[in-house]
Amino acid sequence: MKIYVTRRIPEAATEFLTDHEVQIYDANHPIPRSLLREKIADADALISLLSDWIDAEMLDAAPKLKVIANYAVGYDNVDVDAATKRGIVVTNTPDVLTDATAELAWALMFAAARRIGEGERFTRAGEFNGWGPQLMLGQGIREKTLGIIGAGRIGTRFALGSRGFDMKVLYYDSERNETLEQELNAKKVDISYLLHASDFVSVHLPLTKDTKHLLDAHQLFRMKPTAVIVNTSRGAVIDEKALIAILKAGKIAGAGLDVYEWEPDISREFFEIDNVVLAPHIGSATYQARGAMAELCAGAVLKVFAGELPPNIVNRDVWVNRRP
Ligand code: GLV
Ligand code: GLV
Repeated sequence: MKIYVTRRIPEAATEFLTDHEVQIYDANHPIPRSLLREKIADADALISLLSDWIDAEMLDAAPKLKVIANYAVGYDNVDVDAATKRGIVVTNTPDVLTDATAELAWALMFAAARRIGEGERFTRAGEFNGWGPQLMLGQGIREKTLGIIGAGRIGTRFALGSRGFDMKVLYYDSERNETLEQELNAKKVDISYLLHASDFVSVHLPLTKDTKHLLDAHQLFRMKPTAVIVNTSRGAVIDEKALIAILKAGKIAGAGLDVYEWEPDISREFFEIDNVVLAPHIGSATYQARGAMAELCAGAVLKVFAGELPPNIVNRDVWVNRRP
């Protein structure tokens, strides 16, 4: 079988695939669309990245494709309905990056609350001339209110991390989360109330038609002037222009962002705003998570080749009508 991998990923992936013909786009940038279209023409499996846009047009160029193993937990870059219609299995990489992403959300939250990015730039610029009673004051965390938007795997893990800080936890989700209610006495609330009442807000929703710009100007304006917002999910869940306006106007205390609405582009205005910490989409970027993600992708491809249902399939409906 032929497997096309759109970027070099940890060896764990290819080690498992030695019985097959594996081709890799070995560059330091995403594969150009026209080249990917050429490459998947005779591929049986594709290991794709979140920066590859796999839509119906792309899938029409892949008559033999049986499985897309997306090297990410989010799969908004794949038109799953179009894949299902064509009998193509789609898988993602859940669980193995939950800790890494929740930990990065905490890192961004601390960094934004305590102005670490700003302070680092200041110190490196040689501007530190000694301890100052008013120097870089930030927001304390202990016993504050933490608002979780999206209480799935990552949101839950992130919230559980608040135990060491005795925080009051609110969450917004379509479903009740008993773990959070039992372990943290968390309260399920609507999004407007969550934004209004939280000192720290962390976003953990997948990007879908329904969650795009869920946090628009109207919602963001509900936040406290001392609040900090963190996003490690997908940029477009927040209206980026509205967030910029609110930060510029000093309507919230800060933001910690790992994701952007128009990746790989990033709004230039952010560079002019001191109280935003900007990470380069590294939520899952630990050695542990990335290795395990590679194994999951390879495992999913092999399962589909063997006619077995991969546990991390995202379009179960396809199974009975999948391509032979
Ligand atoms: C990263 O953003 C992922 O979805 O895995
Ligand atoms: C600060 O460094 C302090 O000792 O309070």
